[in-house]
Amino acid sequence: MSRLLKTPVYILGIESSCDETAAAVVEDGRRICSNVISSQVKLHAAYGGVVPEIASRRHLEQINLIIEQALAEARLKLGDLSAVAVSNGPGLVGALLVGVSTAKALAYAARLPLIAVNHVEAHLYANFLTGAGIRYPLVALIASGGHTNLLLMTGPDEILSLGQTRDDAAGEAFDKVARAMGLGYPGGPIIDRMAAQGNPAAFDFPRAYLDEEEGRFDFSFSGLKSAVINHLHHLRQKGEAPKPADLAASFQEAVVRVLVDKTINAAREHNAACVLLAGGVAANSRLRFLMREELMRALPGVPLYFPPPELCTDNAAMVAAAAYPLYRRGIFAPLNLNAHAGLPAAHRLLNGQG
Ligand code: KG4
Ligand code: ZN
Repeated sequence: MSRLLKTPVYILGIESSCDETAAAVVEDGRRICSNVISSQVKLHAAYGGVVPEIASRRHLEQINLIIEQALAEARLKLGDLSAVAVSNGPGLVGALLVGVSTAKALAYAARLPLIAVNHVEAHLYANFLTGAGIRYPLVALIASGGHTNLLLMTGPDEILSLGQTRDDAAGEAFDKVARAMGLGYPGGPIIDRMAAQGNPAAFDFPRAYLDEEEGRFDFSFSGLKSAVINHLHHLRQKGEAPKPADLAASFQEAVVRVLVDKTINAAREHNAACVLLAGGVAANSRLRFLMREELMRALPGVPLYFPPPELCTDNAAMVAAAAYPLYRRGIFAPLNLNAHAGLPAAHRLLNGQG
């Protein structure tokens, strides 16, 4: 029997685009058989951000162990798999290459099809691992440390880019503001917790709406980040102590309001049947709360889905889930597949995939 007709379909996903080395096995694009993640956060914390060279070396040390563990936890052997999928961009090129090279070697050795997955799009598919009832067309906000994208999905693997950040990603702004406040890395979860005790209206930080026609679904967070950092310097020069909870809450509010407003405008304009959140920033409690409230008010009956926090941040189950519709359509990558640091989201739809 041809491998393509084999059921169930077990896809091994591999993820190494930033500072998580991850492998997972997903059945039929929906059921997680295993999901193993080795986070490097502690390694990079001392530097206040990810150091690319350290990330690549650590991926290299970890990747085989993580894949073995993912197969063992799924109680499967290489020969039981239907395909090997890997994120081949965007991300840190040295880090991506570790996953891509490993996936190619496995696919070659086990005679399995290789599937190239766009990391940003993969975040969106984390919702398919938990959310029943997802319908099209849908609008998805992907916000993480490396990317902020608004995507329109018209079918299981038809993805169009509506907008993206022109400078810092939302998570990057969280991390940089947290660093300036001396709060540690990664800053998103720390600011999220701290903001719960603060007043979101304490400071009126700038919110970039980029209202002109072609930019209305784009984002910009560098002005906000600079405004918060300047405010901190100003206070320190005057010898005043900033109120960290108020600062965190006001900054977070400025980020979240823009994310919510643009996502809802996009959902309205494209008659979305549902809205998805994904990426590390989708773990933010204020974003989840406000998006639900505002969506219910603006577009009653349009449901909101977001993954559990452990599937919002980088993982390989989302990579395997994203590969499933490509597997069904027989869209496989060649064994000379490369890593692409700047791979744009919705690349496949615009340029075709080789
Ligand atoms: O998706 P992810 O693991 O990595 C990238 O692909 O970039 O996202 C990590 C980012 C970091 O910037 C982190 O600060 C942010 O997600 N993050 C959060 C929260 N949890 C993680 N940002 C705001 N609130 C959170 N609760
Ligand atoms: Zn990511």
